[in-house]
Amino acid sequence: MSGRFSASRRTVLRGAALTPVAGFALTACSDNGAATSAALTEPTELGAESEVPKGGATLYRDQNVVVSRAEDGSLKAFSTICTHAGCPINKLEGTKLTCPCHGSEFDAMTGKVLHAPATTSLDELSVEAKGGTIVASPAG
Ligand code: FES
Repeated sequence: MSGRFSASRRTVLRGAALTPVAGFALTACSDNGAATSAALTEPTELGAESEVPKGGATLYRDQNVVVSRAEDGSLKAFSTICTHAGCPINKLEGTKLTCPCHGSEFDAMTGKVLHAPATTSLDELSVEAKGGTIVASPAG
């Protein structure tokens, strides 16, 4: 007698009812009308000149611009679109900008990278104070 195992495999198909997960709902939260993740394309009024102290910086989230002021009073402005993968930077502590996406850090006084993964400085913008109002413009 040949005793053979009958390898009867019970294939249990469990009704894996996978609910589709909205995987592409992670784009920027779109404020109506505001281009929240776009770089500056035209001269834009940001706010009162007095908002930027000497040796300090102010982040204008809606416009994706940071403005800093040196001790001699001169202003600098940088785009706060991260040079790593294009996220809008939303955090400023003192003069340090931190990108929420992968943690790159930038110096708001110089635009330079303080912490990887970004390797390229922030884009510098033109900036001037017109009648007490800071106006930033795309450079060049
Ligand atoms: S996009 Fe800013 S750190 Fe990656």
